[in-house]
Amino acid sequence: MSHVSDLIETNVDDYLKSHETKDLLRFITCGSVDDGKSTLIGRLLYDSKMIFEDQLAALESDSKKIGTQGGEIDFALLVDGLAAEREQGITIDVAYRFFSTDKRKFIVADTPGHEQYTRNMITGASSAELAIILVDARKGMLTQTRRHSFLTSLIGIRDVILAVNKMDLVDYSQDTYNKIVADYCTFAKQIGFERIFSIPISGLKGDNVTSVSMKMPWYNGPALMSHLENVKITDRWSDSPFRMWVQWVNRPNLDFRGFSGQISSGTLRPSDRVRILPSGKESRIERIVTKDGDLQEASSGQSVTLTFDDEIDISRGDIISNAADLPGVADQFNATIIWMNDEHLLPGRPYWLKIGTLLVTATITELKYKVNVNTLEQLAAKTLELNEIGEANVSLDQAIAFDPYTSNKETGGFILIDRITNSTVAAGLIRFALRRSQNIHWQAVDVNKQARASIKGQKACVLWFTGLSGSGKSTIANMVEKQLFALGRHTYLMDGDNIRHGLNRDLGFDDIDRVENIRRVGEVSKLLVDAGLIVMVSFISPFKAERRLARELLEIDEFVEIFVDTPMAEAEKRDPKGLYKKARAGEIQNFTGITSPYEVPENPEIRIDTTKMSPAEASAHILNWLEGKGMMLGFRAPEDDTPTA
Ligand code: ADX
Repeated sequence: MSHVSDLIETNVDDYLKSHETKDLLRFITCGSVDDGKSTLIGRLLYDSKMIFEDQLAALESDSKKIGTQGGEIDFALLVDGLAAEREQGITIDVAYRFFSTDKRKFIVADTPGHEQYTRNMITGASSAELAIILVDARKGMLTQTRRHSFLTSLIGIRDVILAVNKMDLVDYSQDTYNKIVADYCTFAKQIGFERIFSIPISGLKGDNVTSVSMKMPWYNGPALMSHLENVKITDRWSDSPFRMWVQWVNRPNLDFRGFSGQISSGTLRPSDRVRILPSGKESRIERIVTKDGDLQEASSGQSVTLTFDDEIDISRGDIISNAADLPGVADQFNATIIWMNDEHLLPGRPYWLKIGTLLVTATITELKYKVNVNTLEQLAAKTLELNEIGEANVSLDQAIAFDPYTSNKETGGFILIDRITNSTVAAGLIRFALRRSQNIHWQAVDVNKQARASIKGQKACVLWFTGLSGSGKSTIANMVEKQLFALGRHTYLMDGDNIRHGLNRDLGFDDIDRVENIRRVGEVSKLLVDAGLIVMVSFISPFKAERRLARELLEIDEFVEIFVDTPMAEAEKRDPKGLYKKARAGEIQNFTGITSPYEVPENPEIRIDTTKMSPAEASAHILNWLEGKGMMLGFRAPEDDTPTA
């Protein structure tokens, strides 16, 4: 490295020791594209001499080859590590850089300014104590400046540095600077930043970066580096009560049973009383075991294995908590949602929710509003698009333990994951528990599902017909019902068109409404199965996620998915309601197969190829299948000599 400290040459041990005792500041730089983040960080690394000799040589030659600074050193090249970034001149991943001065060590998260990379910005901010918000002096505050500031504040950062960059390009104008600072402070006051330090700089020219610039005599403060070295950071999470997510039940032999994890917050000592959540059982810590021996005290950030003085039942995903200061337990809460996926939020769709080491199923039940990041206004919304921020009620398939994010970010922050693609779609910050479900209990009833079905001499189930409009679902479902009815079975047929005249008359055909349509129909079919009926459901039900949701509401042998497989061209040729014609003419929006997708079932129980089977044959085939599965109780199937699908 090019001369970090003389000590490195004379006494490496002392050099390393001096590093150990220095405190560490983690910060994040954010702002819009081209605001100069990479250049500023490159300059900080260069001026603090944290560049290896070979990197410096490469930087000098790259600057001549592809630099944008006319042969002078282009500092952005130092941090824009990836080839793709270099070519496009943008930063596309979170890059963590380490540098140090005599006073402090620093880790800086360089996060991308492009709109589509909000996810990386959140990742970077989640471990930072301070944020540098960069603003281009020529452009002033942009939407991205506001969005990043708002996100930074939501994530819990309270200290910010407003760095008004590129002052060289506005002739070091004090008026320009003052105006931007005034604008920013007005905005920042509304989003809860407690301390704002503002500074005029030029990352490129080095003004006010590591030394105070002569070009701006009107500025009386310290240089940026000096502020970073001296700023006092208060750890707002430090006095949170003890919490640890159980990551692993550690049972190497019959004599040892410990629970491993990383302490999220607080401090713990042997003999402390703790409570396990969500079960609520209380116990006492016996030992705090680590690979370096037992500890008499452990605190946040440490990885430990805990043993208890009794045989308590604990699983992965449980929270071990201070017994006197407990997290809440609920299966619904209100949260701030930051949407980070190209596909918009679909209220009613089940997503995975990962909080700590726990994975549960969650749905957004009610989107209360989304925030206009420029004005901070709350706007009514049906969905959240990429990068939008809103507040919503979230419902889980089981009760979990959590804290509000503002009191504990480890037990109050979560992510949402798409259950089909496995991609992370949102970050969430829990605001408060919804207690409504705690006052609603399951009412025990004496006549149950089995009793209701058996008095009818049948086994209740759902025959779920899915397929394109005009594929023949309703015709076949209708025929199946007629045959079952003739056999004395108790049935009910729910048909898309009919239900949309009543229960679902408020719904249209965009994907948000289709998700809700199928969610309701899934819930109703569950009720009808509970009533002991054989239920036919005939809905396009175009999305895998909601068909899976409907399936998961029932027992394994109660849901029979029947894919009425009619090729698009064939359905369009038949066009029984003339809808394809209208859709082609642009008279119907979001028409399945034309302007709205149909996701083909991968493993339906029954597939009906309507180009090979008549409706009567299909119906016989379905009844036969049910008989074969023992679902028809005493029924003799008609001859089925149809070609099998
Ligand atoms: S679903 O996609 O939400 O499952 P559903 O089965 O309830 O759809 O309703 C489909 C019926 O509505 C079709 O059979 C057709 O008669 C009618 N329809 C009206 N507009 C559309 C549209 N845009 N896309 C599909 N079907 C439509």
